Amino acid sequence: MNTQPPAGSLQANDPCWCGSGRKYKRCHRNTEGRVHPGEISPMRLVPDTIPRPSYADSGVVEHWDEPLVKSPEIIERMRHSGKVAAEVLRLAGEFLEPGKTTDEVDAYVHDLFIERGAYPSTLNYHGYPKSLCTSANEVICHGIPDSRVMLDGDIMNLDVTGFVGGVHGDTNATFCVGDVDEASRELIRITEECTWLGIEAVRPGRPVSDIGRAIEDHAKEHRYGVVKAFIGHGIGEQFHTDIQILHYYDSRSTLEMLPGMTFTIEPMITLGDWRHRMWDDGWTAVTADWQRTAQFEHTVLVTEDGVEVLTGGPGAVSAEAPWNR
Ligand code: MF3
Ligand code: CO
Ligand code: CO
Repeated sequence: MNTQPPAGSLQANDPCWCGSGRKYKRCHRNTEGRVHPGEISPMRLVPDTIPRPSYADSGVVEHWDEPLVKSPEIIERMRHSGKVAAEVLRLAGEFLEPGKTTDEVDAYVHDLFIERGAYPSTLNYHGYPKSLCTSANEVICHGIPDSRVMLDGDIMNLDVTGFVGGVHGDTNATFCVGDVDEASRELIRITEECTWLGIEAVRPGRPVSDIGRAIEDHAKEHRYGVVKAFIGHGIGEQFHTDIQILHYYDSRSTLEMLPGMTFTIEPMITLGDWRHRMWDDGWTAVTADWQRTAQFEHTVLVTEDGVEVLTGGPGAVSAEAPWNR
């Protein structure tokens, strides 16, 4: 199977470039410019010296009751895993350029985690085959790194999660690949603002619905959509715990934020409609209208008087990133 359209132009009745055997007009003609699945390389190995989460070998994720409020000792370990994830995210973003494949990004991120003594949490999580998620353009989240070549003008979300010291740190950002159009840059900028407004709404004693309200209000002001199907989550010794963080307002989100709680805030904001569709791979979520979408994510801790961003701080993607210049 070919994974990229050829440079030249095909006639409607020519065989499609993808190797399907169908006519071009019945196959890819109306889908050019969209992201298509490529070849997924074999799973990369993690050295035995690196402590692994329980699903690493089986792909089966068991859930257990984990306190919502973390002990000071767990929190200290989460500061470290958060820092590792943040640094890997920044380095991965700097690695992006037109012409590289997302599989090359995967190999790079895989090694960055291992060098830091961390297991890439996504690897074999419910069978997920790679060490990060790479979500381009209309891909909302959970894009699988593959043979697709990054193109000048792509916007690319990298979502990295590391397991080190027995706890996970989860963060993502949307980056520009080469020269990106103004509408996409604005989408990225507002999405990052939404994320920070959500973070600023974190306060002990308040319901988690404050977070979704802050995000949704800002997105609506710019007439963007807020994806509903994917939400922020509790995090700690498990990648995903019971806390649910909606990125839109719902009066039923009454859980009270308490000092010591840890969760992610990770809004996905769309240029057009917020509805999604799944690819046949069972992972990749795309916008139903194929318009572009952006996302940012941080792992946060509720403190006595507000919030601490465990995946922020020095080493993280900076406010000086290209889309803010
Ligand atoms: N990092 C993603 C999140 O923010 C989850 C990825 S799970 C995977 O929750 F299996 F898709 F990799
Ligand atoms: Co997350
Ligand atoms: Co994530």
